[in-house]
Amino acid sequence: MLSPVDSLAPEWLVVPDDSNDLAPAVWPASVARDSDGTLEIAGIRATTLAQTFGTPLLVIDEDEVRSRARAFRLAFDAAAADNGTTAQVYYAGKAFLCTTVARWVVDEGLRVDVCTGGELEVALAAGVAPAAIGFHGNNKSMRELERAVEVGVGSIIVDSAIEIERLAAITARVHATQRVFVRVISGVHAETHSFLATAHEDQKFGFPLADAETAVARIREIPGLEFAGLHCHIGSQIFGVAGFRESASRVLELHAALLEGGPVPQLNLGGGFGIAYTRVDDPTPIETLAGEIVAAVAEGCAARGIEVPALAFEPGRAIIGTAGITLYEVGTTKDVQLGSGAVRRYISVDGGMSDNARPALYGAQFSARLASRAGIGAPQLSRVVGKHCESGDIVVDHEYLPADLAPGDLLAVPATGAYCAPLASNYNHVPRPPVVAVRDGRTQVIVRGETIADVLARDAGIDPASVTDSAR
Ligand code: LLP
Repeated sequence: MLSPVDSLAPEWLVVPDDSNDLAPAVWPASVARDSDGTLEIAGIRATTLAQTFGTPLLVIDEDEVRSRARAFRLAFDAAAADNGTTAQVYYAGKAFLCTTVARWVVDEGLRVDVCTGGELEVALAAGVAPAAIGFHGNNKSMRELERAVEVGVGSIIVDSAIEIERLAAITARVHATQRVFVRVISGVHAETHSFLATAHEDQKFGFPLADAETAVARIREIPGLEFAGLHCHIGSQIFGVAGFRESASRVLELHAALLEGGPVPQLNLGGGFGIAYTRVDDPTPIETLAGEIVAAVAEGCAARGIEVPALAFEPGRAIIGTAGITLYEVGTTKDVQLGSGAVRRYISVDGGMSDNARPALYGAQFSARLASRAGIGAPQLSRVVGKHCESGDIVVDHEYLPADLAPGDLLAVPATGAYCAPLASNYNHVPRPPVVAVRDGRTQVIVRGETIADVLARDAGIDPASVTDSAR
């Protein structure tokens, strides 16, 4: 029989034997509990991090990022070599980009994919070789394209017929030759646990397969453009290979047809590899994924009697997601009596949808653990919420946390490395938290936190000299 509290739990959430436990798939390898129960990341106690940098705080485990980047590169290198080709891995900067992280991934042999002029400037400021940058986006402006061509980015992934003409004009004017990919919609739209394959997709990115031949023919006519191949990205937070396999097969049909009109050196299959946000997520190891995806491409090529092209992939979340942990301080707890007789425990923390919009935007699930000590109370179904003036301001919808969790405790939310800081806002004039990298017991601020003065700086009616930096 479920107790009234448990009746609020979703089916997938099991009551843990110990609500201090750390499910290995959702935490960086360096996370453990100290002898006194305090959570430790890369040898640094969560309490020390919070005292030094304040909360909320996004902590990024450098070794976790590096080892995942390395694992992707090695896995795709090996899979490609087994199938007589090569593979490049681009880190999708949209997942989280700052100069330090760009340097780490380049150091580990990755390239960098950017999708706006702003991301391009970060990659350039990090010293990423322009030739190792891929530039995406469905609405790149003339200025963005000019900058990309002038600095010599390695590839521009074109998304529309208008963009092809913009690049024709720019390359003619600056006498440059630009490598371009053509982004196509394979019609395969991957969801987390399944994928849908439809002939027509109603979305803004890329060219429908049926229109791509015309786009490539046009590119081949333009002296300043060099056609590098097709690009396809089927979605994000994907488990399994079925979607990649189906998409590759559809795109290879077009790839083979294009070979009749000239070289098609490369095929970029995008990113989208899923990670564990809660203990029920079970991502396939990258070695298996890489092996199966590359083998599927090679089989598709053999069936069509064509050579296996050089390959490229663009993981973002799978490189940085699991490396990030957000630390919050608990401010209030509240037991809310529901009409059904059930009681829901609300735990309010000092951040929320301004530092992690994913639950509000996508209904994303996260997990949490008490970080400043080990709890002693029984597992209590809890909902972690933020401090924003909005009832949808949820951080962790459902989690079992120790019943004795109380104001002043620190809470750690794992798997916040990807798409949390990049989507952060100043909603309710809340300053965005700093990002601190940890490695071997050392810390490094890689993105400074905002102050109230920073947040107010854009209000043209405020004299900056009059702003006192009240506590966050
Ligand atoms: N390549 C392209 C062309 C993309 O559009 C994306 C992600 C990636 C690579 C990287 O995908 P990843 O490996 O990180 O799944 N904000 C959403 C995710 C948006 C993904 C956008 N494109 C979220 O928080 O779930």
